[in-house]
Amino acid sequence: FRFLRWTWRATYVSAIAGVAYVGYGIWDMRHPDDQAQPDPSKKTLVVLGTGWGSVSLLKKLDTENYNVVVVSPRNYFLFTPLLPSCTVGTIEHRSIMEPIRNFLRHKKAAVKYYEAEATKIDYEKRIIYINDDSEIKGDVSATEVPFDMLVIGVGAENATFGIPGVTEHGLFLKEVGDAQRIRNRIMDCCETATFKDQSPDEIKRLLHMVVVGGGPTGVEFAGELQDFFNSDLKKWLPEIKDTFKVTLVEALPNVLPMFSKQLIDYTEKTFKEETITIRTKTMVKKVTDKYIEAESAGPDGKKVVEQIPYGLLVWATGNALRPIVKDFINQIPAQKDSRRGLAVNEYLVVKGCENVWAVGDCAVANYAPTAQVASQEGAWLARMFNQMAKTQEIEAELAELSIKQETAPGKEVRDAVFTDIKDLQKRLRRVKQIGPFEYTHQGSLAYIGSEKAVADIAWWSGNIASGGTLTYLFWRSAYISMCFSTRNRILVCVDWVKSKVFGRDVSRV
Ligand code: FAD
Ligand code: NAI
Repeated sequence: FRFLRWTWRATYVSAIAGVAYVGYGIWDMRHPDDQAQPDPSKKTLVVLGTGWGSVSLLKKLDTENYNVVVVSPRNYFLFTPLLPSCTVGTIEHRSIMEPIRNFLRHKKAAVKYYEAEATKIDYEKRIIYINDDSEIKGDVSATEVPFDMLVIGVGAENATFGIPGVTEHGLFLKEVGDAQRIRNRIMDCCETATFKDQSPDEIKRLLHMVVVGGGPTGVEFAGELQDFFNSDLKKWLPEIKDTFKVTLVEALPNVLPMFSKQLIDYTEKTFKEETITIRTKTMVKKVTDKYIEAESAGPDGKKVVEQIPYGLLVWATGNALRPIVKDFINQIPAQKDSRRGLAVNEYLVVKGCENVWAVGDCAVANYAPTAQVASQEGAWLARMFNQMAKTQEIEAELAELSIKQETAPGKEVRDAVFTDIKDLQKRLRRVKQIGPFEYTHQGSLAYIGSEKAVADIAWWSGNIASGGTLTYLFWRSAYISMCFSTRNRILVCVDWVKSKVFGRDVSRV
C-alpha cells in the first residue's frame, strides 16, 4: 500500500509538472518580450534559408551581436521527418510547420526577415540578389542585400537525373505543397477509378501507386500509403480493395542502403506482409503520363525494359543542387570540383571564400544529407559566431586596458590594471577554444508502415538495430520530443489521436 501510495503521488506530481511545463511553454510563446532593434553599426550576417540548418543556427545565435538578416521563400520551418504522414492525412501539415515570424520575434535582438528567394550571390561585391516570388508583389519585388558574413542553408532540390518526363508527371515529397498534391492525387485516382463505366485495365492503372526510390523517403511514404489503404480507403471505397496496389521501385539491390542488413531484411519482409511490391535492381529510364519505363535484369541476366502503368507516381530519388548553389560554385575557383554541394572545411567555411559558411544539404562535409547533420552544423556555427563576438569584445577591452596601463599614474593602479588584463587574457583563451565541427551520429530511424519502424541507434561505440512495434513507439516519442515547439508537439499528438479515432479524411480539396 505504501508503494502504491508513493507511486500515485509521483504520478500526480509528474502530471502537475507536465501541465505546468506545457502551460509555461504556451504562455511564453504567446507573450514575447520587447526586442532590441538591430544595430546597423554591427556586422551584417545574412542567413539564407529557414530549414534545419539555418533555423538551428538562428535558435542558438545571440542576435544582439550582429545585424541579422534572414532571406527565405518559406516563412516557416518544416519538420520534414513527419512530412510523409501528411501525404495521407495521419498528420495535418500545419501541425509540423512553425512560423518563422513567431520564432524570430522571441530572439533578444530583432532579426530582419525577407520572404524572398535569393537568386544570386555576388561574392566579389558581397551582395545577395533577392526576388519576391509570391503571388502579391509590391512596386519593388527584386532588390539587393549586402552582407559582411553569409551563411548558406538553402538545402537541395529533387534529383531527376534528367530522366525524361519526371518533372512533368512525377510528384515529389520535399515541401508541404508536395504532400498536399500527393494527398489529392491519391483521392483523385481512387474516385476516377470508381467512375461509371471505367474499364478494368484503366481501373488497374489508376489504382497502381508507384514510388520510385527506395531511400527512407520512398520507404516511409509507401508504408504510410499502405496504412491509409488498410485502415481507411478499403473501408470507404470497398470496390477498390482488390485492385489498389503499391509498388516501390529501386535501382540498387536493396532498399534503405544506410540501414544495417538485418533491418533491410526486416523492412523487405514487412513490406511483403503488407502486400507492398518491391522491385529492386530496377532502374526507371523514362516517364510518360500513364506509365514508367523501367530497366531490370531478366532471368537470363539480359536487360529487360518494361512499361509499368501507374495512377500516382511519387519520385523520391534523392537530392540535387539548387541553381543558386550551382552559380556560386561557378564563381569560386576552389569549388571547381564540387559536384554534390559546396565543399566546406572543418569549420564549415566554404572553401575558397572568406566569411561565407554553408550548412545542411547544400554543403558537402562528408556526412549524409540529413536533418540531424544540418541541425548539428547550424548549432555549432551559432556557438562559433557567439564566441567570435565575445572574442572581439574582449580584444577591444584588452586594447583599452593596455592604453590605460601605459598612462596609469601610480604603480598600484598599474598593478590593478595588469591583473585585469591577465584575467581577460585567460577568458580570451577560454573563449577562443572552439574545435572544428564534429558530427555525432545518434542513429537512423524510419517508419515502415503497419505501426512498425526500424532504428539503427548509436550506442557507446557500437550500434543497436531494432525493428517492430516497440521501435515504432520509440520513433513516435523521439519525433515528438524533436518537434520544434510545444505547439507543434500538441498539434501532432492531437492529429495522431484524431486519425486513430475518426480515421483519416478521404475528401479531396
Ligand atoms: P532544408 O531544411 O530543405 O531548408 C532549406 C531552406 O532554404 C528552406 O527554407 C527553403 O525554402 C530555403 N531556400 C531554398 N532556396 C532558397 C533560395 N534560393 N534562397 C533562400 N532560401 C532558399 N532527415 C533526418 O535526419 N531524419 C528524418 O527523419 C528525415 N526525414 C525526412 C523526410 C522527408 C520527406 C524529407 C524530404 C527529408 C527528410 N530528412 C530527414 C532530410 C532532411 O529534411 C534534410 O536533410 C534537411 O531538411 C536539410 O536541412 P537544410 O537546412 O539543409 O535544408
Ligand atoms: P536517397 O538518396 O536516400 O535514396 C534515393 C534512392 O533512389 C536510392 O536508393 C537510389 O538508388 C534510388 N534511385 C535513384 N535513381 C533511380 C531510378 N532512376 N530508378 C530507381 N531508383 C532510383 O533519397 P531520399 O530517400 O529522398 O533521402 C534523401 C536524404 O534525406 C537522405 O540523406 C536520407 O537519409 C534523408 N532522409 C532521412 C530519413 C530518415 O532518417 N527517416 C527520411 C527521409 C529522408
